[in-house]
Amino acid sequence: MTLVSAASGLRRAWRNFEHGWHRITVAPSEPLEHLGAIAGLLLLLLLATGSYLFVVFDTSVSGAWQSIDQLARTGTFPGGWLRSLHRYAADGLLLVTLLHLLREFMLGRYTHFRRATWWTGVPLLLLVYLSAIGGFWLNWDQLGQYSALASAELIDALPLLGATLTRNFVAVHAVSDRLFSLLIFIHLGVPLLLLFGLWFHLQRIHLPQVLPPRALTVGVIATLGLLAAAAPIASQAPADLARVPTALHYDWILLHLHPLAEAFSPATVWLLIATVLLVLLLLPLRHGVVAPVAVVDADFCNGCRRCVDDCPYSAITLVAHPNAKAGRQLAVVAASRCAGCGICAGACPSAMPFRRVATLATGIDLPQRRIGALRQRLRQALVPGSHKIVVFGCDHGAAVAALTAADVVSFSLLCSAQLPPSFIDYALRIGALGVVISSCTEGACEFRLGARWTSQRLGATREPRLRTHGPAPHYQLVFADGGDEPALVAAIAGLRQRATMRALP
Ligand code: HEM
Ligand code: SF4
Ligand code: SF4
Repeated sequence: MTLVSAASGLRRAWRNFEHGWHRITVAPSEPLEHLGAIAGLLLLLLLATGSYLFVVFDTSVSGAWQSIDQLARTGTFPGGWLRSLHRYAADGLLLVTLLHLLREFMLGRYTHFRRATWWTGVPLLLLVYLSAIGGFWLNWDQLGQYSALASAELIDALPLLGATLTRNFVAVHAVSDRLFSLLIFIHLGVPLLLLFGLWFHLQRIHLPQVLPPRALTVGVIATLGLLAAAAPIASQAPADLARVPTALHYDWILLHLHPLAEAFSPATVWLLIATVLLVLLLLPLRHGVVAPVAVVDADFCNGCRRCVDDCPYSAITLVAHPNAKAGRQLAVVAASRCAGCGICAGACPSAMPFRRVATLATGIDLPQRRIGALRQRLRQALVPGSHKIVVFGCDHGAAVAALTAADVVSFSLLCSAQLPPSFIDYALRIGALGVVISSCTEGACEFRLGARWTSQRLGATREPRLRTHGPAPHYQLVFADGGDEPALVAAIAGLRQRATMRALP
């Protein structure tokens, strides 16, 4: 089995899993489709609760434990509750980041135009681990002492430091306020680095969704808030370097590296970390099939910037048009960023099928699925008197090519948003009985924004708008992912019935 076929097998398996999951859940917004945004929300929650904790925190070795322990003892709200929320948000952030990574991996989203986003995600995972583990040290209770000592042993196992760090923790007087200031600096500095890293991570994402939809935001905060109230986090006994901590209440989510180092050795843990990092960093170098990128035709581009606004990966910029009068601009595609999704072609005003030209050339187009070829195939399929239902679908959604009804003619596009809305009008004008546009659901859209733009263009809230309107439209938009073919068939049946009713005298 080649790497490419293994990757597409994993992708199919994950799509099937998500499809099954959608059927059994009733959530208004799917958590699995918003993992990056949930991670963003948890980061925000950590910064907010962390700021409160920092205000009440005593930054000295002698006062740290008491200042945090007091939060739990002197009434649980809001201090103790916020402290617990901080911990649960940290647990959540690590879990959600790992899930986000797993989903992107299973969907094969690490090669070509997504390489940079993947590579900039890897350091974020390290920073999440580092800031989470560092948080335990600041409590300076027995768990913090255990984690600090275990972390120092781990660092000492690296050849570069020459086995000195552990001495700071094993000697009773060695943990000075100065060392403690360093620990605070790590716990405050790393999240700031994380924010900076996130900015890099999202550089190639147009309109990134950094916070989940409202219902999901409320759900996440309510769940963590209830958890913090029902199972508040309490400090353990204060750190005592003269004694080895026993009977710790362990956080297995954030601190699992320590028992691993104890069970095997610090060197084994480093080997594991290095192997995982190496695999994560090398994965994007895998060569797969590269989709041809969008191509601009300077003669038909008027610099309107619609393609710039709609491109999901910020792959298009405008420059001065070389062969037109001053002020006019020209779209330019950065090939390394282009997903080959065709959404830009669907946005271009020159992709107008009514133009009286033998060959329909457009400002921007995809060589593998040209807009002009779509018009030609549509004309061939809709011979006068054929009364067909035209279905425009997406390669990544419900399989429109598998539709077998004799009165249906289907066209699978690179993305549903590759379809210029004027093609719906055009199909109806040249004899289609009705038009069904089948799009993936928003969260499942392979190219992030395709489903949203399709819905807005057809709803006439985004250019290019669909002009065909009326009380009984002859077209229908249906959201059908792969596996949702019955929903598509039902939509076609509904449209057919409406068209038949209209035809009755
Ligand atoms: C703190 C940790 C992280 C946060 C907050 C985060 C956040 C995000 C957000 C907000 C997006 C954009 C979602 C959208 O609007 O479509 C995104 C996309 C992405 N992330 Fe992360 N991420 C994190 C870690 C990671 C890690 C560890 C990886 C993998 C190594 C990763 C890989 C990706 C990829 C490949 C995309 C692009 C998906 C696409 O092209 O549709 N991220 N991330
Ligand atoms: S094909 Fe997609 S990614 Fe490439 S330029 Fe067009 S909209 Fe952007
Ligand atoms: S949408 Fe078309 S005309 Fe407008 S800038 Fe892009 S390529 Fe040029």
